[in-house]
Amino acid sequence: MTSGPTWEPIDAVRYLGNRSSGRMGAEIARAAVEAGHRVTLLAGPSSIEPDAHPDLEIARFQSAADLDRELRERWPDHDLLLMAAAVADYRPRTSDATDGKTRRGSDAISLVLDPVPDLLAGLADLPHPRGTRIGFALEPADHLLERAADKLARKRLHAIVANPLETMESDRIEGTLLLPDGRSTRPEGAAIGKREFAQWLVREAFRLHAARVAATAG
Ligand code: CTP
Repeated sequence: MTSGPTWEPIDAVRYLGNRSSGRMGAEIARAAVEAGHRVTLLAGPSSIEPDAHPDLEIARFQSAADLDRELRERWPDHDLLLMAAAVADYRPRTSDATDGKTRRGSDAISLVLDPVPDLLAGLADLPHPRGTRIGFALEPADHLLERAADKLARKRLHAIVANPLETMESDRIEGTLLLPDGRSTRPEGAAIGKREFAQWLVREAFRLHAARVAATAG
């Protein structure tokens, strides 16, 4: 499970971040341990942590590069990845300026941003055929399913959770789980609480994983 924002350093005291709180990821990690699974939560800086549990290991990351390192090291020992982290798309091109602080001046300054590699797409190249990779897509409601389906294919995922942008800072969520064959499933009713959604998603994700493993074995 990954959650929260990334912080991309500008210099020793500043960063580029985003508004992800990590709340959804914390709820999913909690729901998974309560359902009897062993969980590793890679949590971004400032993101909400679930209560401690003997089956929950929490490791912190800061930047997308840190998260990539953690994922590549740990993913082969895990069965299911739920990638809720809000990973930066661009990061400041830093030089040795990271050793110190950029000083005030009277001229305008510019930040050069380099693209961050797609971490999820990169994991698809690692040899882990049993591993089930599920991504998240936050998109405006009017293009939600079409854009989520595009990301599902582009990142070679086994499923993607499509969330309307409009529910971002809300306590409720209206997510849909999309599969590569075009099927989709969602909890009954309209928007539900994040905790309830997390419990539903954990059940669906493990059902999907079990079906994939059974298909491989058979
Ligand atoms: N993601 C990732 N690496 C990135 C950016 C995103 O692994 N550099 C993951 C996210 O954790 C999420 C999924 O990809 O599970 C979709 O993230 P999103 O930001 O919606 O998609 P992007 O690939 O960044 O595409 P776009 O900027 O066009 O929305």
